Amino acid sequence: MKKDTFTFTNNRTNQSYEFNILDSTRGPSVVDISSFYKETGMFTFDVGYTSTASCESAITLIDGEKGELRYRGVAIEELAENHSYLETCYLLLNGILPSKKELESFDLELRHRSFIDENLRMLIAAFPDSAHPMSILASGVTALASFYYEHLEMKKEEDCQEMARRIIAKIPTLAAFAYRKSLGVPFIYPDIDKSFTENFLYMLRAYPGGKMKRTIDGVEEIKAIEIKALDTIFTLHADHEQNASTTTVRTVASTGAHPYVAISAGISALWGRAHGGANESVMAQLEMIADVKNVDAFIERAKDPNDEFRLMGFGHRVYKNFDPRAKALKKLQDQLKDELTLDSHLMQIAERIEEIALNDDYFVSRNLYPNIDFYSGVILTALKIERPMFTAIFVIGRTVGWITQLMEFREDKSSKIARPRQLYSGK
Ligand code: CMC
Repeated sequence: MKKDTFTFTNNRTNQSYEFNILDSTRGPSVVDISSFYKETGMFTFDVGYTSTASCESAITLIDGEKGELRYRGVAIEELAENHSYLETCYLLLNGILPSKKELESFDLELRHRSFIDENLRMLIAAFPDSAHPMSILASGVTALASFYYEHLEMKKEEDCQEMARRIIAKIPTLAAFAYRKSLGVPFIYPDIDKSFTENFLYMLRAYPGGKMKRTIDGVEEIKAIEIKALDTIFTLHADHEQNASTTTVRTVASTGAHPYVAISAGISALWGRAHGGANESVMAQLEMIADVKNVDAFIERAKDPNDEFRLMGFGHRVYKNFDPRAKALKKLQDQLKDELTLDSHLMQIAERIEEIALNDDYFVSRNLYPNIDFYSGVILTALKIERPMFTAIFVIGRTVGWITQLMEFREDKSSKIARPRQLYSGK
């Protein structure tokens, strides 16, 4: 059967070229231009890859028009409401949700793997107290490649799974240590009696000896609602197909570098405020706006083409309707209102921004809706997590996505070193 093709005509030479159209199981089809240069002697030009599919993937689907996000075919809303982050990790890594027994064994394995080598702890201790947790985290994950150098060559599926589970388990410990380093307080080791998300909150909050804060009303417990809220945040961040950090991970992996070095590069890419760093910037911006009465003036600045100011937490390359992760977080925020202390002053400013932007022609015509980062900051603050840790929280959630994408890349026989070309305009 003849394949569907796409014809390019060069009107300088009147020559036409046909390229195969490949269909996705869902979403836009693609034109396979891998032989474009060979056949036409020209490159294609696509700054920021706005029209380019860089790989074939069966992990995550985003339907930007409908505002839909699915991991391995399962809707994000279903995962956020009815499954835990660890079930989501298992789903991403294995393609199916775990049975009760599989989940128990996965959970136990991660608990036991959550410790880091004492020398790595000392490396973290050597950072200045002023170090940003993201800087420590990126360095710590690069250092992990030295502690587990054997993961450079992975011959069997079990080796890949071990490599993946190891880093997923250790990332919260590294992040918590990075945080405690920035406060200048002693590190708290993981507690294997605690689940993934509870353990992370424990490592952030506990006093030496594993004691929790005491007040005259008694000992401060980690509330179930806090664990559920953070667990949902991790789930909503778990993967997002070929975004900037994932593309970075795949690019570094394409050179044959160690998987943990590729993840470290992903952490660095995520840090920028156009990507994962936006959650930190949203809170900084809300504080800068300071009062509901100032919102209009900042909206005008965001609309001014001569002003570099952007509304942080708004807009997305792919979502052109709404970001389903933002919708889920807004719902979570509403559920938490009665149980946790949300910063009502900052929330009022955020609500006013949202109200104006959702009705203003500038934002509506450009499909600029609140994204996940617009809501996560208020919730993280209510969980007593300090602002410099916000992007590190994103890292904890996203590590499973990066590692799953990296494993898919390694299994793909057609994968190549990432090596784009350029339109030269120099001397
Ligand atoms: N505030 C004001 N105007 C904006 C904003 C914004 N946040 N975002 C985009 N625009 C305007 C932009 O000026 C441009 O206008 P015009 O067509 O008149 O020149 C138009 O909208 C298209 O913007 P773009 O920069 O071409 O869009 P992009 O797809 O390259 O960028 C983005 C996407 C997320 C980087 C951008 O919307 C942005 O910088 N948002 C703020 C940062 C942010 O919240 N990032 C988190 C993204 S979600 C978490 C994640 O997955 O990383």
